Amino acid sequence: MPWSKVLAARGGANLLHPAILPALGWNSWNAFYCDITEDKIMTAAKQVVSLGLKDAGYNYINVDDCWAVKDGRDKVTGKIIPDPVKFPTGIRGLADKIHGLGLKVGIYSSAGTKTCAGYPASLDKEGLDAATFASWGIDYLKYDNCYVPDNWQDPYDFCVPDDYRAYGPYHNGTCGQSARTPPSGYNWTTSLEYKRYKQMSDALLAQNRTILYSLCNWGHAAVEEWGHQLGSSWRMTGDISPQWWRVSEILNQMSFKSAYADFWEHNDADMLHIGNGNLTMEESRSHFAFWAAIKSPLIIGTALDRLAAEKVAILKNAHLLAFHQDNEFGKPAQPYKWGVNADWTFDADRPAEYWSGESKNGFLVLALNTLQQKSQRTIVFQEVPGLVKGQKAEVPAFEGRSVPPRHNNGVRCSGGETAASP
Ligand code: GAL
Repeated sequence: MPWSKVLAARGGANLLHPAILPALGWNSWNAFYCDITEDKIMTAAKQVVSLGLKDAGYNYINVDDCWAVKDGRDKVTGKIIPDPVKFPTGIRGLADKIHGLGLKVGIYSSAGTKTCAGYPASLDKEGLDAATFASWGIDYLKYDNCYVPDNWQDPYDFCVPDDYRAYGPYHNGTCGQSARTPPSGYNWTTSLEYKRYKQMSDALLAQNRTILYSLCNWGHAAVEEWGHQLGSSWRMTGDISPQWWRVSEILNQMSFKSAYADFWEHNDADMLHIGNGNLTMEESRSHFAFWAAIKSPLIIGTALDRLAAEKVAILKNAHLLAFHQDNEFGKPAQPYKWGVNADWTFDADRPAEYWSGESKNGFLVLALNTLQQKSQRTIVFQEVPGLVKGQKAEVPAFEGRSVPPRHNNGVRCSGGETAASP
């Protein structure tokens, strides 16, 4: 159903979920970590405009952790104080400049006593902080999960089969039983974690400003089951890093969660690392293609003034952005065949290789070579759910060439390429 009809069915504008479609933007963390300044953020914002990323749809410029004075709030007002050295015109001044470019601005806090890097955070101060953010002109809040005090700890463990190398193996994506496993049918909306995230949701809604609420609790407490009650998107895993093994690990986890994403409800696979670390061109394309296909928010995380033109082109890929921002089909792509593994196998190194998703331009079909060597993948049209015989094929998405279907009514692509069939 087109989102305009969904909107009507839901009774008009939806303050709780301003993001009908997954967000597009830039964030400081993967590029600069704590080493941020107004200059760096403004350089990114200007690059978003001059590189044509704004025209491609990227519109949020988000400041991550470490923007505040570390050792305390304002003694009189109790407000968090923007670091005057990093942000000489404050967050308000920064927001004005970003708005002046026709872009929106995001900020970061945590549902704990400190942010993950140890700066002041918002637990039990949600009303004051939300009002402060609104008064500065903030449009987006990323809300992390660090420094949760003892009286806010839940009695139960949750299952996030994440970080396979440190904590795995997980038997086909299950975490096993422990003394803290919740009783069967346990409802996580009764948890303290839900309550911590709801307090900020309520505080944001009380402001006279639309602020996109991006939950960042790393998939804990089965957030995919309730995140849509409180905000627009929710992180599904721990942090991404700029190495293929981690991108692959996250893609594998996400491949089992596509049922939770739709218009207004966005599984967040974490921010992009295109331009960072040692990701090759093929790995960068695959990272982008799958993050777009699963309809994760696409938040760029690199120093844009140093990004190679061929990587800028990945971020602007029109096929994939059109799928991601489709206003008729909200559902993400999902695997139709795992490939090297039997279907529904949980494998951090070899996630599902064959995916498809419906869009208003036809079907997006993706094939991924998960092996660490050159290897061919064949998309057999008859295997793709919903495809109709005789449809035109276009491969690969990154070159956008239109070719007739070949090879046994299918298309072939070699390692690292992504094929799209509209
Ligand atoms: C992590 C979060 C990262 C980044 C970092 C800042 O918890 O997942 O995306 O925000 O904190 O300290």
